[in-house]
Amino acid sequence: MNQDSKKAAVAEAAIGYVSEGIIGVGTGSTVNHFIEALSSVKARIDGAVSSSEASTERLKALGIPVLDLNQAGPLDIYVDGADEANEHLHLIKGGGGALTREKIIAAASEKFVCIVDDTKLVDVLGAFPLPVEVIPMARSYVARQLTALGGRPVWREDFVTDNGNLILDVHNFQIVDPPSLESRINDIVGVVAVGIFARRPADVLLIAGDEGVRKMGP
Ligand code: 5RP
Repeated sequence: MNQDSKKAAVAEAAIGYVSEGIIGVGTGSTVNHFIEALSSVKARIDGAVSSSEASTERLKALGIPVLDLNQAGPLDIYVDGADEANEHLHLIKGGGGALTREKIIAAASEKFVCIVDDTKLVDVLGAFPLPVEVIPMARSYVARQLTALGGRPVWREDFVTDNGNLILDVHNFQIVDPPSLESRINDIVGVVAVGIFARRPADVLLIAGDEGVRKMGP
């Protein structure tokens, strides 16, 4: 099975977690498959809260109402992909640059269902460069602080987030203690969000492989 077929399979499996109400929807190519699949159950949901302008456009194109999180209130379920995941359901996210809104929706949701293919499963997070969203005027300052922590930040040039900010992709981190590094980077002034999702990890990790979709978590 190729990677895209795995993404489609795991997205379809996540539909099993959708009952009714308002669904939190992430961003990325795996989630794009989920949005397609969601259109088949749109009669039984009230709509979606979206983590990016890109997902919003896709949801609206399929006739799924998109609501503001402030109006929606707490969500039962949030479905999103990841760039890396470990056995503790800690994640690296933000390859698509939507990490801040993704983190907000994950925080506001009762259950975070993360959908990945088996290439994303790792023993130690960090081979995928860690995205950090920064306020534009703080870019160089934050980059120096990340270097002091042992990383090699690279500015994702020609990219502006939906919030009008910049992304530094940090290479060279071997993230052996994800919650601790998440806190340390959060504490750097000028950082909006860091792409480590460990203090609020996924609750369920669905992983697509050649043998089908398996689940980690309760
Ligand atoms: C976007 C994300 C995505 O979930 C992550 O990049 C995975 O993307 P894909 O499903 O395309 O592999 O965090 O900010």
